[in-house]
Amino acid sequence: MKKPARHVLVCGSFRNGTVNGTCNKANSELLQYLAEGADERGLDAMVSSTGCLNVCTHGPVVVVYPEARWFKQVDEDTAEAILDYLENGTDVDAEHVLAA
Ligand code: FES
Repeated sequence: MKKPARHVLVCGSFRNGTVNGTCNKANSELLQYLAEGADERGLDAMVSSTGCLNVCTHGPVVVVYPEARWFKQVDEDTAEAILDYLENGTDVDAEHVLAA
């Protein structure tokens, strides 16, 4: 098995067996946008959905590992900036950085 260099986690809002959090509405679109963008750019990154990341007031939330950068209120423009960050290391607007 080849391990990806990075893992992009998109909050899927699952809590206690239900889909309940604030990120849910954006999850499938963000997941597809980031996965397709990573493929198109040839990034060594896996994009996955998670359970609730417990920062619901900041949703939609995306986290990049191994560097543990957390992004908040991720919309399509921010998702594009995250892809730029993954590809080139360029900064994402501080307004959308939850933890770096
Ligand atoms: S639903 Fe995304 S952080 Fe809780």
